[in-house]
Amino acid sequence: MRHRHSDYMHWAKTQSRAPFNLATSGVGSFPLAELPGQPALEINGDSTYGYAPLQQAIAAKCGVDPDCVVAAAGTSMANHLAMAALLEPGDEVLIEHPAYELLVAAALYMEARVKCFARLEENGYALDPDQIRRVLTPRTKLIVITNLHNPTSVLTPDSVLREIGDLARSVGARVLVDEVYLDAVYEDTPRTSYLLGPEFIVTNSLTKVYGLSGLRCGWILAEPDLARAMWRLNDLFGSIPAHPAELLSVAALAHLDVIRARARRVVDADRVQLAEFLARHPSICSPRTKFGTTAFLRLSGLDVDSFLARLRSDYETSAVPGRFFEMPGHVRIGMGVDGAMFAEGLRRISLALAAQPSR
Ligand SMILES: Cc1ncc(COP(=O)(O)O)c(C=O)c1O
Repeated sequence: MRHRHSDYMHWAKTQSRAPFNLATSGVGSFPLAELPGQPALEINGDSTYGYAPLQQAIAAKCGVDPDCVVAAAGTSMANHLAMAALLEPGDEVLIEHPAYELLVAAALYMEARVKCFARLEENGYALDPDQIRRVLTPRTKLIVITNLHNPTSVLTPDSVLREIGDLARSVGARVLVDEVYLDAVYEDTPRTSYLLGPEFIVTNSLTKVYGLSGLRCGWILAEPDLARAMWRLNDLFGSIPAHPAELLSVAALAHLDVIRARARRVVDADRVQLAEFLARHPSICSPRTKFGTTAFLRLSGLDVDSFLARLRSDYETSAVPGRFFEMPGHVRIGMGVDGAMFAEGLRRISLALAAQPSR
């Protein structure tokens, strides 16, 4: 039976909300009223295989040729489309662990044979090419990673990405890098790994780091032949995007620095709060990153699912259960939405931990 659902997405849509919502992954919404250079909206436009001004704006942002850009409805559809274009049923796909569940679910939906390679907690969740080498075979078609890593926000340097690219090339595979969080590296933001070599395929969008999720402005970067094949495949899926969203996306892409800076202030302040919280709770293990909108916390010595259920019912606070990352002793929390809410959410987590009978 094909895999036709995502438990995580269903949970996120139906059970993640709370007055103190730390179950987020991206920054707070960017209001339309604050978008500089508001475009005149129109309902229909000249969009076939891409809307030319949007193709050019995405290409310019990424430092690539517009022929390499395939527009898609968010990174979600970008990941789906990329996998649909690259995989045949039975193909072997290697995916990092812990992983964003939708990446695994999409590969399973393609009827791929999914194998995992570890990002080890004791190594700070760094990507380790040796872990990939252990599971790589001549049948491997795709290696899937996130950069920044969801859930830990750990950054993978280009030197390691190049090694992974070499591994992929040695068996004729490709590397799919989901970069939806990469621009949350606010200083010396790395260039897209698409530029590292032809085996790299990259997905991204303006959702998590810019607060523009509603525009569904996502894209795939792939070499032109593959990009054309993806456009043709997309005719079977979304075919034509909503034109008003394309117009707004072009306007947003012209002002990304302003939009990102607004969110950064909240993310940076929340990270300070998080550091203070972790200092008060030395038993909680978490990689400390200087960037990213999510953090992954190991809560030792308690049943995390029942703790989170009580946190939500008694303390009106939510966080993502680690079981969605196949790490049941962990929780993921999100930064960048609202400083006061984040601080109060952390305070309530402290209260709930203090009330734990076993601690
Ligand atoms: C790694 C990763 N990729 C993709 C997405 C979905 O992005 P979008 O909202 O652009 O579809 C998420 C959302 O949480 C994510 O964490």
